[in-house]
Amino acid sequence: MDNHNYKNKLKMDSLPKHIAIIMDGNGRWAKQKQQSRSFGHKAGSKALERIVKAADSLGIAHLTVYAFSTENWKRPKEEVNALMKLLSQYLNQYLKDTKDNNVKIDVIGDITKFDEEIQRKIEKIQELTLKKNGLNLHIALNYGSRDEMTRAVKKIVTDVMESKIDLNSIDDSLISSYLDTKEIPDPDLLIRTSGEKRISNFLLWQIAYTEFYFTDKLWPDFDENDLYKAIFEYQNRERRFGTI
Ligand code: FPP
Repeated sequence: MDNHNYKNKLKMDSLPKHIAIIMDGNGRWAKQKQQSRSFGHKAGSKALERIVKAADSLGIAHLTVYAFSTENWKRPKEEVNALMKLLSQYLNQYLKDTKDNNVKIDVIGDITKFDEEIQRKIEKIQELTLKKNGLNLHIALNYGSRDEMTRAVKKIVTDVMESKIDLNSIDDSLISSYLDTKEIPDPDLLIRTSGEKRISNFLLWQIAYTEFYFTDKLWPDFDENDLYKAIFEYQNRERRFGTI
């Protein structure tokens, strides 16, 4: 157990502007407790609420969380249904709580694959929180980086064919502006829980210079102090962005 209080050690003038999280380990957490995987996802959604609050009160500008990937549809139907139910409940809770907090919600990914009802809730939350000035919470839903890039390439080619853009104007920043994350700065810090050291098709374009932080903690156990610890470690790294 690491009992340090990391919050007091943080340099408040150099916080990461954007933290991305791969919330992994819900299933294993539940298995350890001889519970269903859905039980683990429910605990995962509590952990998400906790971390959103902590990031917002710390003053983090952007938090992007991987809640449902383009590959997650291949899980057993029962688990997909449980995740959809949880998503629906999470959105309902947010619709209720939104007046009491300052969090602005934005969904990235292709939401056209979700039920109409879920799509409507997502649109409503985005609309209701549009003017909020606290944490920008980006929830990745039916998100996969390759899918995002494929959609972007199609849009770019269409715009070239329709002479909306010139072939020679295609560069890094133009490509970024066609991605779901167009209005979000690239992540400074990416956290993955549960001991896995993979990127799993998350923000591949955006993490070119991101610092990675891996922890063995399973997502439902990840708490405020774990977030502060990750930021503390990030603040003690040297970032050179390809220079010397
Ligand atoms: C990874 O754990 C987690 C997910 C696939 C989903 C993340 C979802 C949440 C944190 C719940 C809250 C989200 C919503 C829908 C708003 P895993 O199932 O891959 O765990 P395992 O690797 O131990 O099996």
